This record gives sequence, structure tokens and C-alpha cells, in this order.
Amino acid sequence: MQAGGALCGLPSAKPLCSDRTVAIRRVQHIWNAAFTILSIFILNHALKPSRRSRAVFRPRSCSTQPRPPPQRAAPSSSPTQRSRRGPGSNDVCLLETRDEAGGLARVVFSTDTVVEPTELEALCAAVGWPRRPLAKVAAALRNSYLVSTLCVHSWLDATAAEHGAPADAVKLVGLARATSDGAFNATVWDVLVSPQYQGQGLGKALVEHTTRALLDADIGNVTLFADASVVDFYKSLGFSVDPQGIKGMFYLPSWT
Ligand SMILES: CC(C)(COP(=O)(O)OP(=O)(O)OC[C@H]1O[C@@H](n2cnc3c(N)ncnc32)[C@H](O)[C@@H]1OP(=O)(O)O)[C@@H](O)C(=O)NCCC(=O)NCCS
Repeated sequence: MQAGGALCGLPSAKPLCSDRTVAIRRVQHIWNAAFTILSIFILNHALKPSRRSRAVFRPRSCSTQPRPPPQRAAPSSSPTQRSRRGPGSNDVCLLETRDEAGGLARVVFSTDTVVEPTELEALCAAVGWPRRPLAKVAAALRNSYLVSTLCVHSWLDATAAEHGAPADAVKLVGLARATSDGAFNATVWDVLVSPQYQGQGLGKALVEHTTRALLDADIGNVTLFADASVVDFYKSLGFSVDPQGIKGMFYLPSWT
């Protein structure tokens, strides 16, 4: 008891702190310190996996997290430079074919291909769409939030492709682009696949990957304008006509 009183600085006959109390307090201090260290450790540990999961679980096709608009390189007028570009981390190989001469071709979906206005217009012409002024097409591509492409990467020698050599040629065979406010809404435009490559599931994959890229960027309202002949195509991909009675409306100037 004396010791307890001395420890507490109270030499009274009836000390406020007993040996037992001091021991209990020590244990409490040790427990508090251990609890604090444990809490910090658990907090650190709880945060780390979520940071890691963004990188580790990101699908090859597109980011799973909200992200800024995909960055595209400045337009290049050099086809050689473009053709040297192989599938990158954001690319998805949709189709692979080999020919008898040993060549190999891959149809690759990408969101970072440089598209020349002339290439897009050639594709539009191939599906029978009217020509548009190239300067406006260039502006439309430049100002789009997302430009998705289907390109055929071809190698004369399949072995070279398997060893990661750059393609001998890269040709645009499909495209879809989206305009967006980058937060809530996106509208998909210019969905087309070269006639030579239609009917192989590429149009479907193009729209699916494009929509997925927008949803992954946390843009929840994805819309498009469908030609009457392709309404069923988009319906099969999850798009609805007039959902909840909402109508798309067009301003048609009366003075034209
Ligand atoms: C519409 C388009 C992009 C489809 O591309 P595609 O590569 O031929 O389509 P897919 O091979 O991926 O077809 C996927 C499915 O949609 C179906 N489909 C394709 N075109 C369709 C159409 N016009 N209407 C209804 N269904 C269609 C296919 O039969 C296939 O069905 P399945 O999965 O049951 O076999 C292509 O035909 C095209 O570029 N058309 C000209 C441009 C155009 O009209 N674009 C749309 C502008 S709004």
C-alpha cells in the first residue's frame, strides 16, 4: 500500500492508488498503445488493397475506374508511323486469321488509334453514307470524348507477329465515336464497320467495348441515334427506344 501511495505522490494512510490499481493502469496503457498501433496497421492494410485493385484488376480492354477522357496522340500524317504501332495495353484482339502464304491478320479494338479524317470518310463512303467536309470531320474527331476503332493489323509473316514485331500494315475497318460532358452523358456517333468485315460480330464488339469504356468512365447515360434499319441491332446490345416514354427530339428549322 505504501508503495502505491508513494507512486501516486500521496503518503496518506489510505492511498488512492493501490499496487493492483497501478498494475491495472499499466496494463491499460499497454493495451491502449497496442490498440492504437493495431488500428493504424489495420487502417493501412485496409487502404492498400483498394489502391492495388485499381491497377491489378483493370481489364485489358478498358479502365474499370472513373478516368479522364482517353488520351490520343496528336494526329500524324505518316502512315508508316501509324502502321508501326502494335496493339497496346488498351487494345483488344477480336479476330485472328491466317492465310496460306503464312501471313496473319488481327482485327483489334482500340481507343487510342490516330484516325485521319480521310480514313473515316473512306469508311463512310464504303457503307454508302454521304461525304462530309473534311475540316468538319477533323474537328468532330478532335472534339470527340472517345474514338473507338477496329483496325486490321497484318503481318506478312505470322512468326514475326508472334514475336511481337510491329505490323506490316494497319487499316481502319470500323469506328464509333462518342461526344460527352465527361460526367453524366455520352452520345455515340458514326458507328460503322467496313462491308468486307460485317457479319462477323465486329459491330457488336465495337459497340459493346465503346459502351463499356463510357460506363467505366462513370458516365451512366449513354445514348445514340439509330437509323431505322439498325434499331434491332442496338436493341440486341441493350439499348432501348423511348425508355420510360422519353422521346428524342430534333430541332428542324422552319426556314430551311
Ligand atoms: C450496323 C453495323 C455496324 C453492324 O456491324 P456488323 O459487324 O455487321 O454486326 P455484327 O456482325 O456484330 O452483328 C451482331 C448481331 O447484330 C445483328 N445485326 C447486324 N446488323 C443488323 C441490322 N442492321 N439489324 C438488325 N440486326 C443486325 C447480326 O445479325 C448479329 O446478330 P446475332 O448476334 O444474333 O448473330 C454494320 O452493318 C454497318 O456498319 N452498317 C452500316 C452503317 C450503319 O448503318 N451504322 C449504324 C448507324 S446508326
